[in-house]
Amino acid sequence: MADFPESENVAAMHGSSTMIAAQMASEMRAKGIEVIDLSVGEPDFDTPEFIKDLAIEGLHTGLTKYTPAAGLAKFRNSIVDFYSKEFGAELTPQEIAASCGGKQALFNAACTLLNPGDEVLIPKPYWVTFPEIAHFCRAIPKYIETEANGFVLTADMVESAIGDRTKLLIINSPNNPTGRVVPQGELVRIIELCASRGVYVLTDECYLFFAYPPSMPFSSAVLPKEVRDFVCVAGSFSKTFAMTGWRIGYTIANPDWTKAIVKLQSHSATHPTTFVQYACAKALENYDETISAVSSMTAEYERRRDWLIPALNAVRGFKCQMPEGAFYAFVDVRGMLGAKFAASADIAACLLKKAHVVVTDGSGFGADGFLRISYATSMENLERVVAEMKRLFGTD
Ligand SMILES: Cc1ncc(COP(=O)(O)O)c(C=O)c1O
Repeated sequence: MADFPESENVAAMHGSSTMIAAQMASEMRAKGIEVIDLSVGEPDFDTPEFIKDLAIEGLHTGLTKYTPAAGLAKFRNSIVDFYSKEFGAELTPQEIAASCGGKQALFNAACTLLNPGDEVLIPKPYWVTFPEIAHFCRAIPKYIETEANGFVLTADMVESAIGDRTKLLIINSPNNPTGRVVPQGELVRIIELCASRGVYVLTDECYLFFAYPPSMPFSSAVLPKEVRDFVCVAGSFSKTFAMTGWRIGYTIANPDWTKAIVKLQSHSATHPTTFVQYACAKALENYDETISAVSSMTAEYERRRDWLIPALNAVRGFKCQMPEGAFYAFVDVRGMLGAKFAASADIAACLLKKAHVVVTDGSGFGADGFLRISYATSMENLERVVAEMKRLFGTD
């Protein structure tokens, strides 16, 4: 059969390296090998029962038909009210569009803004999808190195990266893969700087609620309107409410940007599943129960982090900063490179082969020499993995 003539837009994209690690784990499992998979970017918790019940209630009340492409009015209103209660944001439903997960929110936002040749600033390390969205739009990713500041983006870094063709900055804080959080004051400075230079900001807030004290969840949705005109928040229920498989998220952007997003989405997915929108809206209306469910998950991630990071630092050759958010440890293994391991990918391969542990190599995030370890798994698994790492590499 002749090669499929993939479009130039899609040919410009690369496959997802995080998916490759998950694929390797499932192939080993299929062979009957017990694998501990620390490559996953999804909560190990189940969706809270009351949200499942609300989805069933939605089905039973006949919510099985199309909604407007922007989402149910009830859904959009619930986001407005929730952000007002939780963050003091003053939003209108015209600024909200429902989407099929945070990924579609990001895609919608970027595809409605970017033209071929536009420059997109992407801090390194980055979540794998950010450069690929830019590639799909035939825009040009321009990477910002952040290691000098422990992988935390600063306004100065952004200032020196902005050029004549810069159209968009993509931010993700709390960050995947580093777990670092840009302090609130610095984040505001970055966004104000961009707005003053006519640069748009797409802020991926999918780990918003997983910021551990003293860090606090901070949403850019609270910024004053004249700044927010340049901002699109990509939100997601996936991580916050352990709902990855439900595929629901949203954008918060100025009404014109939102109209463009809705126009685009009306010709693709149309909208996320109707009774899922209903369940999410009712859950957000049910503020106390929702916040309590999220807080208990956040507290458990924090407990695991507090155990895991010192434990990883005790493995010979591993160096890991304390992440302030998300559920990833980002381990610097450059000290181990040399005769035995030429690259961090070889260390990941060794863990897979000799300990049946899957971790993600940093190169897919633009950070060769690092491993990303997800702690969205049980303490028991974490303890077993660290014991295996110490067996293989020794202790400090
Ligand atoms: C940084 C980041 N953004 C967005 C997403 C997308 O999540 P979803 O599409 O499930 O909302 C993920 C998922 O791993 C992520 O890590």
